[in-house]
Amino acid sequence: MAAGKGTRMKSQTPKVLHLLAGRALLRHVVDTAAALSARRVVVITGHGASQVESAIGQFALAHAGAQFQCVRQEPQLGTGHAVQQAVPVLPDDGVVVVLSGDVPLTRIETLEALIAACEGSKLALLTITMQDPTGYGRIVRDGGEVRAIVEHKDATPAQRAIGEVYSGIMAVPARLLKPWLARLDNQNAQGEYYLTDVVKFAVADGVPVVGHTIDDAVQVAGVNSPLQLAQLERAYQLRVAEQLMNDGVRLADPARLDVRGELHCAQDVAIDVNCIFEGQVSLGQGVTIGANCVIANAQIAAGAVIHPFTHIDGGKDPVQVGEGALVGPFARLRPGARLGEQVHIGNFVEVKNSTLAKGAKANHLAYVGDASLGERVNYGAGSITANYDGVNKHKTVIGDDVQIGSNCVLIAPVTIGAGGTVGGGSTITKDTAPGVLTVARAKQLSLSSWKRPEKKS
Ligand code: UD1
Ligand code: CA
Repeated sequence: MAAGKGTRMKSQTPKVLHLLAGRALLRHVVDTAAALSARRVVVITGHGASQVESAIGQFALAHAGAQFQCVRQEPQLGTGHAVQQAVPVLPDDGVVVVLSGDVPLTRIETLEALIAACEGSKLALLTITMQDPTGYGRIVRDGGEVRAIVEHKDATPAQRAIGEVYSGIMAVPARLLKPWLARLDNQNAQGEYYLTDVVKFAVADGVPVVGHTIDDAVQVAGVNSPLQLAQLERAYQLRVAEQLMNDGVRLADPARLDVRGELHCAQDVAIDVNCIFEGQVSLGQGVTIGANCVIANAQIAAGAVIHPFTHIDGGKDPVQVGEGALVGPFARLRPGARLGEQVHIGNFVEVKNSTLAKGAKANHLAYVGDASLGERVNYGAGSITANYDGVNKHKTVIGDDVQIGSNCVLIAPVTIGAGGTVGGGSTITKDTAPGVLTVARAKQLSLSSWKRPEKKS
């Protein structure tokens, strides 16, 4: 169900498309459904339908095994009315699991247990007991048997005292659900078609209703406001941090870590405070990440040290950092940056679409773009590759053991032969032979006859 308005988000973006851990709320739910090997994922859209539907088109690309379908609910007349819209596309021989697009953190094992409790023949409800159940549908039991769900607004004072509530998640065979949906009415306090009324039909029809109760409120928590979104984000991040620490990662502070994607760590990885990991990141054995790094789509090999305030973003062309490399502080590695073993990249150095072979160094204030640097190259402070002529990008090739002095401009396409040296301040426009010193700058002049202008009094 993803048709609701989400008024309290006070946003142009449909609520279910707001991001948690870098993924839309609805994406979390869809990923969970796919992880359950759902045959069909039916998304009920309404508010912001076209935006939500195009997002679903994107999400579906990641799940080739499942069949995705959107059905519109216009207007929105309640949760029962929402599920009614899906009836034509639900196979009769299936079990329907009802999820909410704004409840992102339900665990797969919880839903597997719920589906198991349904046994293909019962109505299974996911329930939880709350200190303050205000607003939720209460689970009314009689001698332990579930008899009904009564919405807060319809509940008697005695029913309001019940702490066990319906989570909004159920598993039910489609062949039972469909006729129950057809029997719903809106004779209640909110004038809505309540999905929860199916419970009383099940009871009337003699179909067993089972409550599967959990005690982890995060799994059924919905997002209605920016505050709740931030609270769930923290809950999610703490889950991730605990998992990493259980796997042996040393986090300086589990409350100051954000993983918006997948972070894979080998043994003896240490991560300082305020680091953000996005997309797919892997950290090899003994990697150290300094404080305040942002690292997206990168493979960092064993023993590498990423110093504080480094920004790495591999985008669609993951960054590779070789074994024992040193990066930062204040370095920037962009898509296609490939650093070999023992490479050093220092402060205010930017590397894009370039390969640096073993032992190459660019330690200060430099730009390396569309280039390949051979082994042991020393790339001087303030030097840049002029890789762009305004239309096309060109390549710079620097052979093994080259020394590029400080403040050089290498105008691509250009090749610096192995073992060569480029004098500081040179602007290089032509290829250079191996082993030679090349200087391309105005000759130094000293004029003894020159006089400084003097102020007239
Ligand atoms: C619902 C349950 C309540 C339960 C609570 C848990 C009903 C009648 N009540 O209440 O028992 O304790 O969830 O959070 O089901 N939606 C639509 N179309 C609609 C109405 C809602 O798609 O016409 C979607 C919403 O976007 C949301 C979900 O259904 O994702 C639940 O709707 P919401 O209004 O939050 O349900 P509650 O009234 O809180
Ligand atoms: Ca409602």
